[in-house]
Amino acid sequence: MTKPLTIAMPKGRIFEEAAGLMQQAGYDIGAGAEESRKLILEFPEQNINVMMAKPMDVVTYVEYGAADIGIAGKDVLLEQDRDVYEVLDLKISPCYIAVAGLPDQPLSRIAPKIATKYPKVASDYYREQGEQIEIIPLNGSIELAPLIGLSDRIVDIVSTGRTLKENGLVEYEKITEITSRLIVNPVSYRTKSERIDPLIEKMGEQVGVNS
Ligand code: PRP
Repeated sequence: MTKPLTIAMPKGRIFEEAAGLMQQAGYDIGAGAEESRKLILEFPEQNINVMMAKPMDVVTYVEYGAADIGIAGKDVLLEQDRDVYEVLDLKISPCYIAVAGLPDQPLSRIAPKIATKYPKVASDYYREQGEQIEIIPLNGSIELAPLIGLSDRIVDIVSTGRTLKENGLVEYEKITEITSRLIVNPVSYRTKSERIDPLIEKMGEQVGVNS
């Protein structure tokens, strides 16, 4: 038998939707994954291995060829600028990246502080605006930063808007829309095309793309 196709799946809130979409496309890889602590799940009848990865790390596994394909948020792809092929917009987990902060706070003229877990996205955005800023890198609970005076603004994901609202923050500008994408390792794309091409096609049918 040929080597299994290895798929890096994002653990956490995207997983269920992503695994559901794969199942609809005929790849039944979700069963029991989230309840188990196993990080590599084998599906020998489908000749597939699934790696359960942190969403921010999926792109790394795919870039280095540890996984042939993966499902990653466009936010991670924009932030990390890695050498992977982005082959399909899966249109799941829609959200957007926005600038937010305390209400009625004009942006300070001198190097305003921007807290974010997306330093590249935030820097690119403010460079385009012609603003000199200082990035405060954080890993989560970004909304804390303006509340305690650590930053003037945040650049972060908005999904339902609940986190902003419940913390008394307002959105100032929308930067970009985000959905999850199917990504492929460039070498696997050539060497495993007999497995990967049909997968892209079937997933494409599910999300309404004529490939
Ligand atoms: C994300 C994001 C916001 C929140 C937005 O954080 O960073 O904090 O979700 O969702 P909402 O608009 O539906 O409220 P996440 O829950 O991933 O955790 P984190 O704070 O650890 O990054």
